Amino acid sequence: MSVVENQKDIPFDIKRVYYLYDVPGGESRGAHAHKELYQLMIAASGSFRVTLDDGQEKKSFYLNRPYQGLLVKPGLWRDLSDFSSGAVCLVLASEVYDENDYIRNYRDFLAFKKKQ
Ligand code: TYD
Repeated sequence: MSVVENQKDIPFDIKRVYYLYDVPGGESRGAHAHKELYQLMIAASGSFRVTLDDGQEKKSFYLNRPYQGLLVKPGLWRDLSDFSSGAVCLVLASEVYDENDYIRNYRDFLAFKKKQ
C-alpha cells in the first residue's frame, strides 16, 4: 500500500485526482503545459514514459513503480508515451480542471517561457 497525504508528502493541496487508463499501446498523451498547475504523476499500474521540457532542455522519466511519483511543476511541456498494456497513470493535481491554465501550442509555450 502507498499513501499520499496533503502537504506532508507533496508540496500542494490536492484539489483533483484523475487517472488515465486503456491508453492504446503506442499512443501518446499530454503535449501541453500548465501555467499554474502542480501535479504528481504515479504509474499506479504498468509503466509509461514522461518527457518534460522546460523550453531549453528535455528530461525523460520512466515511471514503472506504484510507490514512486513524479512531481511536475508548472511551466513544463509534457509528453506521456510508451504506455504498457494495462497502465494506469494516476494524477494528483493542485487545482480543479481549468482549460485556461493549459498551453496547448508549443510555440505559445516557448513564448510563455520567454516572458517568465
Ligand atoms: P487532457 O488534459 O488534454 O488529456 P491528456 O493530457 O491525457 O491528453 O484532457 C483530455 C480531455 O479531458 C480534455 O478535453 C479536457 C478533459 N478533462 C476534463 O474535463 N477534466 C480533467 O480533469 C482533465 C484532466 C481533462
